[in-house]
Amino acid sequence: MTNNCILVGNLKINPLWLAPMAGVTDKPFRTLAREQGCDLAFTEMISGKAIEFKNPRTWDMLDIEGESPIGVQLFGSCPQVLAAAAKVAQAEGARLVDINMGCPVPKIVGNGEGAALMRHPQLAETIVRQVAAAVSIPVTVKIRAGWDKTSINAPSLAQRLAAAGASAITVHGRTREQMYSGKANWEIIAQAVKAVDIPVIGNGDIWKGRDALAMQEQTGCAGIMLARGALGNPWLFAEVKAALEGREYQPPSLDQRIEMSIRHLRMELAYRGQDRGLLFMRKHLAWYLKGMPGTAALKGEIFTCTCSRTIEDMLLSYIKNHR
Ligand SMILES: Cc1cc2nc3c(=O)[nH]c(=O)nc-3n(C[C@H](O)[C@H](O)[C@H](O)COP(=O)(O)O)c2cc1C
Repeated sequence: MTNNCILVGNLKINPLWLAPMAGVTDKPFRTLAREQGCDLAFTEMISGKAIEFKNPRTWDMLDIEGESPIGVQLFGSCPQVLAAAAKVAQAEGARLVDINMGCPVPKIVGNGEGAALMRHPQLAETIVRQVAAAVSIPVTVKIRAGWDKTSINAPSLAQRLAAAGASAITVHGRTREQMYSGKANWEIIAQAVKAVDIPVIGNGDIWKGRDALAMQEQTGCAGIMLARGALGNPWLFAEVKAALEGREYQPPSLDQRIEMSIRHLRMELAYRGQDRGLLFMRKHLAWYLKGMPGTAALKGEIFTCTCSRTIEDMLLSYIKNHR
């Protein structure tokens, strides 16, 4: 039960990390996670090629100004392109750069990117070697347990990537075949921990403070990465931190949940503008309301409403009626 600092290359860092999540972990969300105790946040995965071609939407994702510590996650399959993109990330202020070798989406793996790299350890190794040679910040890699249950290779791949210059490895204990279903296999994380002498960050199925304790105990991982458990629940960081430090945790009240959702909404509107902000927030609002009593109709109304002021009013009257 510890909350000890980890050494990732030359970077001293605390152990509770926010996972990269595409379409989710933007600047406002990262800000809320940090307020609750997140020690290191990542951008969502960013295409190395899109950085090369200076795609404007991609540059928006690289907005990390004023955030520290922050990691930029890159995806791609060409070592030279990823090395050049890593240099850009470093110049933008990233404290570390992470290579995505876990994305299971058909469009990505079909291009030989994301989890497809787990089937090509030689290329994965070359990518890490070239990216690490291109930047002075630490390079980390996020992998899965393996491609499918017949080809579990996280421990041996972690070894190869560490030898190629990776400073830490995050292991999501599911295979590509599982996508996001089933349970994450923490035993594979434990095996990866034993296989390498760089920090291994455990990822998969942390929904409560006690899950983090159990993961630490069962795997010996140096750090923990939270993902879906934090959706609509940035307090998960506070809960896990309390568990790691052996403190009591007081969950937020219904009022506090609704207040947070409104604050998040306002932050996104300020960040993205009215229309794009509102569209982006729909999924987040649904996550905030998940599990709250009697919100089915409210969710439907929010999804069809195009006025943020009206949405705020709906959320506030929900609290009044449920006190
Ligand atoms: C909406 C969503 C987007 C994600 N995007 C990324 C991504 O950009 N890069 C990445 O490495 N993993 C991504 N993931 C995977 C998570 O980082 C994490 O590995 C996975 O959800 C397992 O952790 P969990 O069981 O705690 O959710 C994404 C997951 C979700 C749900």
